[in-house]
Amino acid sequence: MLKELTSQRLEQPCVEVLNPATQESLGWLAADSLEQVESKIVAATLAQPKWAAQTAKYRSKLLRKWFDLIEQHQQDLALILTMEQGKPLSEALSEVAYGASFVEWFAEEAKRAYGVTIPATFDGKSIRTIKQPIGVCASITPWNFPVAMLTRKLAPALSAGCAMISKPAVNTPLCAIALRHLALEAGIDGELLPVVISEQASDVGLKFCTHPSIRKLSFTGSTAVGKQLMQQSSQQVQRVSMELGGNAPFIVFGDADINEAVAGAIVCKFRNAGQTCVCANRFYIHDSVYDEFAQKLHAAMSKLSLGAGVDGHDIGPLIDEKALQKVDQLVHAATLAGAELVCGGKVASDIGTLYYQPTLLSNVAHDNPVMKVEQFGPIAALCRFSDVDEAIHFANDTEFGLASYFFTQDLTLAEYVSNKLQYGIVGINEGIISTEVAPFGGVKHSGVGREGSALGLDEYLETKYIAVGGLR
Ligand code: SIN
Repeated sequence: MLKELTSQRLEQPCVEVLNPATQESLGWLAADSLEQVESKIVAATLAQPKWAAQTAKYRSKLLRKWFDLIEQHQQDLALILTMEQGKPLSEALSEVAYGASFVEWFAEEAKRAYGVTIPATFDGKSIRTIKQPIGVCASITPWNFPVAMLTRKLAPALSAGCAMISKPAVNTPLCAIALRHLALEAGIDGELLPVVISEQASDVGLKFCTHPSIRKLSFTGSTAVGKQLMQQSSQQVQRVSMELGGNAPFIVFGDADINEAVAGAIVCKFRNAGQTCVCANRFYIHDSVYDEFAQKLHAAMSKLSLGAGVDGHDIGPLIDEKALQKVDQLVHAATLAGAELVCGGKVASDIGTLYYQPTLLSNVAHDNPVMKVEQFGPIAALCRFSDVDEAIHFANDTEFGLASYFFTQDLTLAEYVSNKLQYGIVGINEGIISTEVAPFGGVKHSGVGREGSALGLDEYLETKYIAVGGLR
């Protein structure tokens, strides 16, 4: 499949896709000019009303076929994902299943875009609402989940009767092209889901935000870029969904099952080499269990193998040199500010150019720089706390509010803490919270809107209120 998707270098502007594990070229893709982006938007605008006029059942059937095809090609898709993104093949397979689950879920939800009938306030009147597709939408998706972040937007958009033009990250465009290829094979009109290949991310973003035909923008990426897109999209008063940065706290209370907490920490922190918005970013450990947790986490981390995703390792490369430098500088800044380096702390140059050793930092102060920014790397930074409200204060002391985690056996404490945490997502005794059936999204500077779940479809629907009079 990879060979079908890429070609030899073309006689026109093009982008090269690299394998981050080896830095080898996977191929070249023709880059879209802004004129080509315009043509794709125009074609989507013409195709969308016909799609919206189809029955929900018809759209559902085609989405279901698309899901089946993704399942049939899961091995190929996972290989493409690992080759262009770097994550271990087992994680790539999980991501393909996760990505496919949104297509399956929204194929089912297509039929449930219900309006309501509201008891009228006067005789001879009826009041009801219907749900209608927003129209043409645009998405901008990141490199860390090139399959799932796209299907989490595209599947509800199509299911609602919208068209969606997508701009995948330039490092990882092949998954988007492969997914579109399968959607076309399922019988979905290609003009409904054009893909834009471009290195000019800010120009394409501006085009999406200011185009009068585009009624909705869905973005997953950094808070800084999200804020800029929100400003730009205000010109057309577009609906927006923003899945932005996180700074997830991971709290271990004194009564927690420490073995479970360590297992949760490993999957939560080191999934995708730490490159997810919901990865644990700061560990707060109760004094009474600090030493035990630190020692067991260290032992578990030393079993993680680092290497190319296709070779069955636990942790792959970071996405590029900039990401690697950021992680290295953060670790240096953390130790300069007083954190103790227990293990790691170096580029693993014996393995390849973009690998970073799993790094454990101990006795990190809450105000250490490493606790303040989204790390996007394999760094576990541990801070002590002595009191429940202190832990809650530390957890909430950030502008972000995406995912949070804590471990305890005490039901009353669990209830209290989950109510107090200012986050869109709370995992209790659980390191993985992602699923198509639950609403994914953040509060504060982590974003606007929810993806997945029954709420995910509403993001692509307008509610129309219809009042009928003279019924006496
Ligand atoms: C993200 O990192 O933005 C998404 C992670 C997930 O859906 O699990």
